[in-house]
Amino acid sequence: MGLESRNLISTLDFSIEEQDEVLALAERIMAAPKEYDHLLGGRIMASLFFEPSTRTRLSFEAAMLRLGGRVIGFSEAGSSSAAKGESLSDTIRTVSQYADIIVVRHPKEGAANIAAGVSGVPVVNAGDGGHEHPTQTLTDLLTIRSVKKRVGGLAVGCCGDLKFGRTVHSLVKNISRYEGVSFIFASPDELRIPRFLRAFLDDNGVEYVETDRMDGKIAEMDVLYMTRVQKERFFNEEEYIRLKDLFILDAGKLRSAKEDLCILHPLPRVNEIAYEVDADKRAAYFHQAGCGMYARMALMASLLGAV
Ligand code: CP
Repeated sequence: MGLESRNLISTLDFSIEEQDEVLALAERIMAAPKEYDHLLGGRIMASLFFEPSTRTRLSFEAAMLRLGGRVIGFSEAGSSSAAKGESLSDTIRTVSQYADIIVVRHPKEGAANIAAGVSGVPVVNAGDGGHEHPTQTLTDLLTIRSVKKRVGGLAVGCCGDLKFGRTVHSLVKNISRYEGVSFIFASPDELRIPRFLRAFLDDNGVEYVETDRMDGKIAEMDVLYMTRVQKERFFNEEEYIRLKDLFILDAGKLRSAKEDLCILHPLPRVNEIAYEVDADKRAAYFHQAGCGMYARMALMASLLGAV
């Protein structure tokens, strides 16, 4: 595979063929994890999280441990020398002498790209501000393949905070490359999908509609990707409070949905999916969180040239 020593900063860094190879490897690992438990023996992953995380950090760390490797790092900027004023570049230059691969989450857009520019080892973007979250997209794709058995031809609904949600930005750019995928964007006007993404879809001839109501369109969706309103990206708390509960998925709204709808959410959830939905067989978001570990196992094995 040609991914050895590469970085993953943007969701478009890998071609569809390269990405599908990573996803196919993830499926092989998922089917027989024990066969891979020494694959990264002796390797070290640095997990540098300058912003809070549960799933991404722990699934990366679990992925490395389950492949036989080891993990160093920090889970908040305050416990690193960033708190003393060290630049991101100096941190990365230093850590790349200790680790074989660096996973970085940072509140600033473009931080992972800066890290990749100075690192001597592969860098993976674990989320940079409101910009991108490419390993979440690998996770989402692995889940969609697992549930729907295909990606092409699906009508994908994205609902909630489409302006600040980096997971949606990466997902839309990425899966619009698959034949026949179309989108239904449901959000309050203030949280519409950004202009650059609409331009991207227009330039690539991808079909989409926008609505400020979820109910009327849910029946058309094959996948429904719910998102949290990203409180941490708002400048104005009153605006957040006004918008945060406008789109809530509950059992009533699902009555008109397809029997085989796949409901995803990158998590964490706040209020946007009622707890009653968890018991619905169409709810796939905890399965999705599990897929994240296998996607990251396959990614690291590929970037480290172990497959
Ligand atoms: N989906 C996701 O990025 O979750 P965390 O913020 O918990 O890592």
